[in-house]
Amino acid sequence: MSTTAPVFGTGFLADVDLVDPATYLRPDVDDVWRFLRRESPVAWHPGGGGFWVVTPHQLVTRIYRDSGAFTSTGGNVMATLLNGGDSAGGRMLAVSDGKRHQRIRRELMTAFTPAALASVRRGVVAGTRRLVQAAVERGTVDFATEVAEHIPLAAICDLLDVPAADRDDLLAHTSSALSSDAPDGTDLQARLARNEILMYFAKLARKRRGGRADDVIGLLVGMTEPPLSLSDDEVLLNCYSLLLGGDETARLSMIGAVKALTEHPEVWDALRSGRVDQDRAVEEVLRWTTPAMHSGRTVVSPTEVGGVEMSPGQVVTIWTRSANFDETEFADPHRLDLNRSPNRHLSFAYGPHFCLGAQLARIEIGALLSALVEFADGVERAGEPQPIFSTFLSGYRSLPVRFTPRSQGSTT
Ligand code: HEM
Repeated sequence: MSTTAPVFGTGFLADVDLVDPATYLRPDVDDVWRFLRRESPVAWHPGGGGFWVVTPHQLVTRIYRDSGAFTSTGGNVMATLLNGGDSAGGRMLAVSDGKRHQRIRRELMTAFTPAALASVRRGVVAGTRRLVQAAVERGTVDFATEVAEHIPLAAICDLLDVPAADRDDLLAHTSSALSSDAPDGTDLQARLARNEILMYFAKLARKRRGGRADDVIGLLVGMTEPPLSLSDDEVLLNCYSLLLGGDETARLSMIGAVKALTEHPEVWDALRSGRVDQDRAVEEVLRWTTPAMHSGRTVVSPTEVGGVEMSPGQVVTIWTRSANFDETEFADPHRLDLNRSPNRHLSFAYGPHFCLGAQLARIEIGALLSALVEFADGVERAGEPQPIFSTFLSGYRSLPVRFTPRSQGSTT
């Protein structure tokens, strides 16, 4: 059991409850992470049934790396782990471990290499330019719903080679199945939409049997043959997980990027004048926004972390939101520095479960930054941003902004 002195429920953390989504909207939430990193790097959170909370960069990395001692199979998000575990455990990549996970992952990675993503990249760049150009022409827009919402889903449809005629329907279902809850959100609509999406993928997978095997669905269908013999369920769940993993996360980082540019005009100036390296800028956007605030694991065998003994079956939460702002890893972490280097952020996790779609997400954020520079001279806040309400994801579901179009003579 816990061998740390209790910190939650006492002193500075008297009213901090990590199971409550409202906690992540507190104006002092960064102080909570800083306090934990300094005073109790491995802390026991008694609420929610009890779980470990790990906050420093070094220890978060250590746990990500060690999938032998810390399994994802019971679930990889706090909410599911504390509510009986993930029903897709062992059948979907993000919540599987061991040799089978490695083999499926290795096969799927062939669809995510830069060469394989070349045509998806072209589509993302063209689509993002169109959306941003139209938004800048309109002047005042909700960047979240009018621009960012459309980019990752279109990219995933390209990746899965979803026929053009089916896209509108699929996209309509995904927005209700995946959107992070507003405080008053209901679950039923989301569950129905999820079923529709799974049924759609079942249909698509049936059509792809015996077809080409170089896109994600083709690769998964190919793995239904021995030696991997994926079940139909596994094929569907893995298709679905690309939507789950790749839509809202990428969307939130793009919305967060634009919000940050409205708040840091000097950073926008540096970006526009070409004084920043685009690849570094993308990494800093990912660190700054950290869309997935944590990952969850279950302890497999007795393990020591940061001087604390953890027991089999205990839930561990590792906080990328904290690790990405750890002052022992990042100089001046609360400064947005688009040229930051090195930048060992953990937004895509680390080790055996490192995000499979990282390259695609980078393409999307890069395309957005380029399009903003190409079409806009300025961007400013035009209303209050609305945050999402979640213990897992962080960011905004609405961001009203006003663009100033590029004037004829302006240079980049
Ligand atoms: C895994 C974050 C975009 C597909 C992960 C994990 C994180 C993450 C933190 C590891 C979870 C864990 O270890 O428990 C993000 C962020 C993104 C993003 C912040 C955007 C900014 C994408 C995209 C796709 C994708 C675009 C695909 C279209 C996946 C998959 C996994 C994964 C399949 C599971 C990999 C495995 O377990 O081996 N992602 N992701 N992600 N991500 Fe992403």
